[in-house]
Amino acid sequence: MKRIGILTSGGDAPGMNAAIRAVVRTAVYHGYEVMGIERGYCGILEDWMTPMNSRSVSEILQKGGTILKTARCDAFNSKEGIQKAVEVIQKREIDAIVVIGGDGSFRGAEDLHKAGIPTIAIPGTIDNDLGYTDLTIGFDTAITTVMESVSKLRDTSSSHERMFVVEVMGRNCGDIALFAGVISGAEEVIVPEIPFSLPEIAHRVKRGMSGGKSHYIILVAEGATDPYIFTKELEELTQIHTRLAVIGHLQRGGSPTATDRLLATQMGARAVDELCKGRSGVAIGLQGHTLTAKSISEALAVRDTLNMELYRLAEILAR
Ligand code: F6P
Repeated sequence: MKRIGILTSGGDAPGMNAAIRAVVRTAVYHGYEVMGIERGYCGILEDWMTPMNSRSVSEILQKGGTILKTARCDAFNSKEGIQKAVEVIQKREIDAIVVIGGDGSFRGAEDLHKAGIPTIAIPGTIDNDLGYTDLTIGFDTAITTVMESVSKLRDTSSSHERMFVVEVMGRNCGDIALFAGVISGAEEVIVPEIPFSLPEIAHRVKRGMSGGKSHYIILVAEGATDPYIFTKELEELTQIHTRLAVIGHLQRGGSPTATDRLLATQMGARAVDELCKGRSGVAIGLQGHTLTAKSISEALAVRDTLNMELYRLAEILAR
């Protein structure tokens, strides 16, 4: 192996740059060349590539987003797309690819692996929706952003004795809502994994407000319900002034937290170590405090489940 290609794919996540830096510098340390592939899998098909060295990744550790740009690439998801990708990779004399992204990006990495290209996948998504790993790169920064936003909303919520519904990202996964809800003291957490009853929530809101609460914060995961309808119906049922805040893509930006920088750095270095050992089709993950390296197909087969212990704790602490 002489040359490693690296790309970021899907939604960007804070910490992707830290992972790129670790991959590039670990590869250089082992004597490999690195090719930066821009705009995800589209960059392979379109041959958007630039050689990288240690200096290419200076001063990016603290930056959000991804210096390699990212994209969701439909053209890659076909037999012809993968065939073309293999041809470009061979023409460029790239011997292995490191992919940083979420589940869709992992499926692309698995396709490349099956097509004979040595490939390693690193989990980079704010959603934390990959069941095989305890943490994905970007999740910690996203929940920190939500926590800071909720602190500000709580000030105005208490002053006006209003209720706030706060919609957060996560696609079909409730982790951002649940974890951010716990660390910001939200009164309710609505997640796609658990059905909810609006009249029951309305009852708890009225009980809480008449029992002395001056604010009521409800975190709603985007995959759980329509936040506009939810807010309107809850206001009608409770007769309490309610505002909706959609945090949106603010959750995807910003300088990565210490946890995300460390995770991204360790995962990036481990990805290159796996390639050095001659492995391919491998997903880097975290279990407890230990990095793991299992097959991508095995990783994708692990169903992502909500942490029910944390969910119950959120309910207890919200009273
Ligand atoms: O997967 C990351 C994520 O931010 C999800 O939480 C969200 O559903 C989606 O991407 C939004 O995608 P886009 O940036 O394409 O609107």
